[in-house]
Amino acid sequence: MNSKLPENFCLSPFINLTIEPSGHIRLCCATKHSLGKIQEIKSIKDVWYNGDEIQKIRTSFKRGDIPECCSISCFAKEKKGLRSRRMKIESWFPGITQIPETLEIYDMDISLSNSCNLQCVMCSSEYSSSWFKDDERLLRISPYREQHVKRKYLIPSYMTMSQMDEVISMAKTAQKITFKGGEPTYDKRLLYFLDECLKNNICCPVELITNLSIISEAVLQRLDHFNKVTISASIDAIGELQKWMRGVGVLSTDDAEVVIGDLLNRGFTVCLNVTVTPYNLWNIRDYILWTRKNEKVHVNFSQISTYPRYCSPGLIPLEMRRKVAEDLEDMDLTNISHVQRIISYLKMENPDNWQTSSIAKFTEYFLAFTEEMNRIRGVKIQDIVPEIQIVIDQLKNG
Ligand SMILES: C[S@@+](CC[C@H](N)C(=O)[O-])C[C@H]1O[C@@H](n2cnc3c(N)ncnc32)[C@H](O)[C@@H]1O
Ligand code: SF4
Repeated sequence: MNSKLPENFCLSPFINLTIEPSGHIRLCCATKHSLGKIQEIKSIKDVWYNGDEIQKIRTSFKRGDIPECCSISCFAKEKKGLRSRRMKIESWFPGITQIPETLEIYDMDISLSNSCNLQCVMCSSEYSSSWFKDDERLLRISPYREQHVKRKYLIPSYMTMSQMDEVISMAKTAQKITFKGGEPTYDKRLLYFLDECLKNNICCPVELITNLSIISEAVLQRLDHFNKVTISASIDAIGELQKWMRGVGVLSTDDAEVVIGDLLNRGFTVCLNVTVTPYNLWNIRDYILWTRKNEKVHVNFSQISTYPRYCSPGLIPLEMRRKVAEDLEDMDLTNISHVQRIISYLKMENPDNWQTSSIAKFTEYFLAFTEEMNRIRGVKIQDIVPEIQIVIDQLKNG
């Protein structure tokens, strides 16, 4: 960490605005602590510049105290030797070497809504409107889905036009804007947001985190005007498995290749983001070989779906995980980010640090959830990934 900033300090509450697809305003995307919900507040500016809650957190950091919400997110992660959001944000802004005296937003992490055209297996109605119809029924399978009902996630959530204007007016000092969602390109108002940014001379680097399936020429033409564009394409598998994992509407592997080629030709940076789940472990090898076709593409294995718990790769029997890890170790893994972390995770006996009774419960949910997803997709994953049948048989036999 930068030596000039106090040891336990985080820049995020001073320079970052995060708005989640559910409407929660947060200190950053690593903490679940809410500063308010856009549906329930009068002004986003008021919450961020003058809100009691964020002021308390800023004062804590200035004093050298760690606020509780940050202690259970970033600081806990750092204790395990992992790279936290706090560390990342400090590395993105090396020029900030002292506690900021004025409040200016340099970093924005914006979700315009929870609208999404896909229904990915590891996702839920917190992020995707396509999950609403099935989420309630899935309560039978896992009480973890209950949170979506309790937290009122089963309804559309979106920024109003005047809230978008407010956010754009706060973006004048931004040095980086990240669009998430929902699927940012599924929300037509992304065009309005980009147009208004450009009208206001906001053309800082932008990152679009997207499932890549519906990115339009109109969006790409707007993006052409920003200083640097990174397209983080969420592709978790190749072939039929990608369809099973993400559902109807997902791009085929061949079509993804064409879209990626077009993005690279435009001068955009393309990063493939893989979310590792129990379902795509046996596809990673072919996936890496596929990405080798285009050396300009960055590949990032930064996400493991440890939540929902029943979607954690840690539930796969240890010998099977170890075999996947060993096969990966035999490959050329240069320039593939975070894959070593996945390998270490897969080799651990209890990578999620769960108690035995919890593992039994999550295993039961995993089996029921897989069966339900097969029904939703109309295709059995076992027919695409035969290893999953072995997993199911082993887990059922204890
Ligand atoms: C929620 S999506 C929103 C943006 C866009 N719709 C997409 O899929 O890229 C953001 C990222 O979260 C990942 N993701 C979804 N469910 C996850 C989970 N349970 N654990 C970790 N990452 C997850 C997605 O694969 C994607 O890379
Ligand atoms: S595309 Fe993104 S937001 Fe939509 S369901 Fe998949 S992970 Fe969730």
